[in-house]
Amino acid sequence: MVQKKIINNKSSTISDSEALKLASQILANIAQADEAYHRYDDPKLTDSEYDNLKIELERIKSSHPKILSDLQETKRVGAQVSKSFEKVKHELKMFSLSNGNTRDDIEKFGKSIKSFLGLSETDKLDFCSEPKIDGLSLSLRYEDGILRRALTRGDGRYGENVTKNALEISNVPKIIDVKMRVFEVRGEVYLGKKDFLKLNEEQLRNGSKVFANPRNAAAGSLRQLDSTKTKDRKLAFFAYSWGETSKSIGNTHYDAVEELKRLGFDVNPLSRRCPTVGALIEHYNELMFLRATLNYDIDGVVYKVDNLDFQERLGFRATTPRWAIAHKFPAEIAITQIKDIDIQVGRTGSISPVARLEPVNIGGVIVSNATLHNEDYIVGRSSSGEPIRGGVDIRVGDVVEVFRAGDVIPKVNSVILSKRGVNTRPYVFPTCCPVCGSRLTKQVTDSVLRCTGGMKCFSQAIEKINHFVSKKAFNIDGFGKKNVIFFYKKKWLVDPSDIFLLEKQYGSNSNNRLEDLQGWGQQSAFKLFQAINNAREISLSNLIYSLGIRHVGEQVSTLLEKHYCNWTNFFDQASKARNNQSDEWMQLSLIDGIGETIASSIVEFFSSDESNWVTSKLINHLNIRSYKPVSLSETPLLDLVIVFTGALKKMTRSEAKARVEQLGGKVVTSISRNTDLLIAGENSGSKLKKASELGIKVLSEIEWLETLGAHDGK
Ligand code: IVH
Repeated sequence: MVQKKIINNKSSTISDSEALKLASQILANIAQADEAYHRYDDPKLTDSEYDNLKIELERIKSSHPKILSDLQETKRVGAQVSKSFEKVKHELKMFSLSNGNTRDDIEKFGKSIKSFLGLSETDKLDFCSEPKIDGLSLSLRYEDGILRRALTRGDGRYGENVTKNALEISNVPKIIDVKMRVFEVRGEVYLGKKDFLKLNEEQLRNGSKVFANPRNAAAGSLRQLDSTKTKDRKLAFFAYSWGETSKSIGNTHYDAVEELKRLGFDVNPLSRRCPTVGALIEHYNELMFLRATLNYDIDGVVYKVDNLDFQERLGFRATTPRWAIAHKFPAEIAITQIKDIDIQVGRTGSISPVARLEPVNIGGVIVSNATLHNEDYIVGRSSSGEPIRGGVDIRVGDVVEVFRAGDVIPKVNSVILSKRGVNTRPYVFPTCCPVCGSRLTKQVTDSVLRCTGGMKCFSQAIEKINHFVSKKAFNIDGFGKKNVIFFYKKKWLVDPSDIFLLEKQYGSNSNNRLEDLQGWGQQSAFKLFQAINNAREISLSNLIYSLGIRHVGEQVSTLLEKHYCNWTNFFDQASKARNNQSDEWMQLSLIDGIGETIASSIVEFFSSDESNWVTSKLINHLNIRSYKPVSLSETPLLDLVIVFTGALKKMTRSEAKARVEQLGGKVVTSISRNTDLLIAGENSGSKLKKASELGIKVLSEIEWLETLGAHDGK
């Protein structure tokens, strides 16, 4: 309901802080009136009431110039974004969510939390259950109540500064009434289904790109360089979380979200507090039923531990919190026909068959490709030889059921044999690389064939370089696959390290200038070289990710960065780990979250002459940021090796381990000369004896907690 009576003609006689409050109220009322008028076609104010609000806001601004300058400052900061979005570090990292698909996954989640916190099965543990909005996350930073900065999630550590555009989202409050120096609100930007359809109709009329789904349209709209375009796109925001705040805003997640609502943020009305896992599942079923009737897309439900003290104790893994999980909705299915089967050669040489489909709409997304995984999958058997799909093979011309779940690549569920044409033939899998003709190999532990051509294979080279310049790796703005192919075909790029030689060889001072080529100019060449130069400084984890080592994604790269801290150490240790009897191999394969498969893949990468050659050339061009734990006072246990023994009374083993890791230490299970500290709970036996023989420092659980308390400031 839009409040009508807030006009105050005494604005010139009130204090700055009262004026700020009043301006905030007026802005909120204007936003509500805008929404009622534009979104619901249901004006709540007459034209003159609306105009009066604007006049009063102007009056406050002119009688309280500080407010004016604060508001202008916010606009100015946003206005700096011009050619591309500035990357800004999140004060508190933006995490992602781990996923569950089945009731079983959610029950395991509930149990693991109770076990981590040392609660019994019957102890009370409340959760909040919230719709998982299918948009993109945004962090809004308010300083003294004024919206100063808006960042996208980016890679979680650095986001894009989209302040100017966020100011154009009508339900994002520009001023809020909080007595806090800093207050960061996080949530999801989305585009309503109706606005999405309208936008696509308009795009079609203008001959512009049509968006595949509301999420892509929301992302495209928020990341417009021209913020007037964002304004036209009717984006909206749901708040569900927070980042850096000067003070706590509640004791429970539910209460904190209520506080966000009180401050003027839209929060999702379908969120619930649930006392049991059973209640979560009930809410999930309810939301699945409601899903189609909502004007925004949801792709699942997010469950969060409600008690914020518990959340703090549970903490985070590398990229996800332990206290939350996303329960995804099941895949949606459609029927279509396979027009062709193509073979793609990936970055690691993987030979992946892809079904080209008669385009079909699955839950609002047009699907025209489905993965066929590998040769076995096409034939109708699993990698261990068991029949799948009842042993039915997949052929060009088959009518099939296709499904997609969230961001996952669509898959073929089954073949409708009754619709198989008489002229179809079993698919003949290639025996050599269809791109470069090289031999194909398959390791015993692998389910896919791989091309042995390395960087000599056009597809592998393009995919490797493309991965290298991608967002989570070197993040070279404006490079893109088109340019990768262009430079590779011209032989200006043979491997990724050549990117850093481009300016020297083809810059404006060279004889063979990029800017003189068709489709290029001085400005575009300059921009590209500038983006490349900006990328020379890189974090260790992004560098590790960029190398494209099999099984080493974003999360594993972060774990490796934390463990090895700098490039020289990582390279040296990974090379020595080749010997699987060595300490270096033990260390690598025992990192929590790594294990033998990933460790073998890292070792294999550094055993290849080609990888070593490319990597050593590359390193010379870079300034690699070492990993620095935030501050020594936050990691007082840095590199200490700690063993727990006996029964702990105050916290579970899992929690104790997580606390040690959070403070920079490592927990191992057996005592050796490398152990720095033994924490002895009740009934400690042989480990205590061994520790005293080796002269290792021993602390009781109480002494240990006192040490932790000192570090936590408790
Ligand atoms: S909480 C540390 N709550 O889902 C927890 N996320 O797949 C951070 N999302 O990156 C996220 N609705 O963009 C949370 N109610 C909700 C959400 C939600 C949508 C998105 C968010 C996140 C992604 C993870």
